[in-house]
Amino acid sequence: MSPSPTTDPVDAPAGDLVVDWYATAARDLPWRQPGVDAWAVLVSEVMLQQTPVARVEPAWRAWLARWPTPADLAAASPGDVIRAWGKLGYPRRALRLQAAAAAIATDHHNVVPDDVAVLESLPGIGTYTARAVTCFGYGQRQPVVDTNVRRVVARLVHGRAEALPARSSDLTDIAALAPADHDRAVRFSVAVMELGALVCVARTPRCAACPVRTVCAWRLAGSPAHEGPPRRVQGFAGTDRQVRGRLLDVLRGADHPVEAAELDAVWTDAVQRSRCLDSLLVDGLVVQTEDDRFALPS
Ligand code: ADE
Repeated sequence: MSPSPTTDPVDAPAGDLVVDWYATAARDLPWRQPGVDAWAVLVSEVMLQQTPVARVEPAWRAWLARWPTPADLAAASPGDVIRAWGKLGYPRRALRLQAAAAAIATDHHNVVPDDVAVLESLPGIGTYTARAVTCFGYGQRQPVVDTNVRRVVARLVHGRAEALPARSSDLTDIAALAPADHDRAVRFSVAVMELGALVCVARTPRCAACPVRTVCAWRLAGSPAHEGPPRRVQGFAGTDRQVRGRLLDVLRGADHPVEAAELDAVWTDAVQRSRCLDSLLVDGLVVQTEDDRFALPS
């Protein structure tokens, strides 16, 4: 069977169906444009890991306009980096990205490595990001497996309603689905991610719009419900994450160190507030001055 786009859709392998669907259904996202370099891809992937696309887009553009290469970011003050991260959330990512940028600038001639193992040796770059950068940034055939992709594999291949926790066979499962043709295999990696983001979504999958509905093991099994404990939905209100965000907001908005009393005003529960401030200090996102005021690191 030929893995070409002209293959009869009924008989085409699942990977080809997904690639053909992507050609008609993909979102036009800026980091997917031709000519976007590996540094811009790395920044997009770090931002997208825990933040929705709509919030990432403006932050990504501003970030790259300001720090167009790793060395530019490496030379910035951590406080400016945390400010530019703005409200993307999980701000430790900003400092990890800066640490990776510093390693790329000093150890790799300011060029993002194109090798998975080398990328994985950089601070904060794991299995997912290393493969995303080599695939989307350098056009390599790579299995790129995020939460959405694991859910697609769980349903399409294993007939399960939901993904199992991440495991090494995720990479082989997805590699086995990729088309034989190199360029289509590269596109498949982003296409299957898009399928999981737009169609094969967690709660109400849009199976009628799915290009692989006729070969999906989960559908063929009658779409059985998830077995096991219900999915945990991450709340935000009242969490340490919210409190940390409020504390950082105050420091982002200040051009000088602030008194503890100013931070006390953002959250009434003193135990939680102090725990969160301590954790920001430990993470290096906040520093304490000699006169016991607080600031972003300089
Ligand atoms: N395109 C490439 N990587 C992506 C991601 N992580 N999220 C959304 N779109 C992407």
